[in-house]
Amino acid sequence: PTRHIAVLVGSPRKASLNRKLALALAGLAPESLKLGIVEITGLPFYNEEIEAEAPAPWTAFREQVAASDGVLFVTPEYNRSVPALLKNAVDVGSRPYGKSCLTGKPAAVISLSPGAIGGFGANHHLRQSLMCLDVPVMAGPEAYLGNGGSLFDEQGGIAVPGTKDFLGKFIGAYAKWVETILAGRG
Ligand code: FNR
Repeated sequence: PTRHIAVLVGSPRKASLNRKLALALAGLAPESLKLGIVEITGLPFYNEEIEAEAPAPWTAFREQVAASDGVLFVTPEYNRSVPALLKNAVDVGSRPYGKSCLTGKPAAVISLSPGAIGGFGANHHLRQSLMCLDVPVMAGPEAYLGNGGSLFDEQGGIAVPGTKDFLGKFIGAYAKWVETILAGRG
């Protein structure tokens, strides 16, 4: 069956390397896995006081995630942690309490940085939030991409053959993870 994956990108930049990575992963994914970016830059900051009359962007975001078969997080690292943009999306998705659109969604996290550490801090801080939200996150292969500035060719393809192979394996493993989790639910 075709599975529709909501991809959340943790950078607002038009020229974001992580956005490029998300698009490259869409091209490397197995036929059955359709990756689509769900935009999060327009989400107002989460505030319980306005939940009763939730802003339209919150509702639209929650509906898109709820309709998906899984969620893939593609993120840079800001100050060794999750960019506020992406944390806010998780917070918005997690509420109202007990009605999180993220609960049970098969997920994976991949981080990319122009630096050498590959966003490890962001990757694991994000996992901490996902654990408490009962989101089954694929444990491995772990994916921390360093030197992200030299990863892409002019067309946005992956220029480094070893990394391209790795990303193919990563997204293939995620496709299997999605099936495993969805089967367990049925
Ligand atoms: C960064 N950057 C960064 N990089 C890193 O590897 N570890 C870090 O802790 C940080 N911290 C950080 C904080 C802030 C506020 C900014 C704006 C940037 C650099 C970051 O990885 C780089 O800007 C990436 O290119 C951002 O990802 P996109 O926009 O290319 O996807």
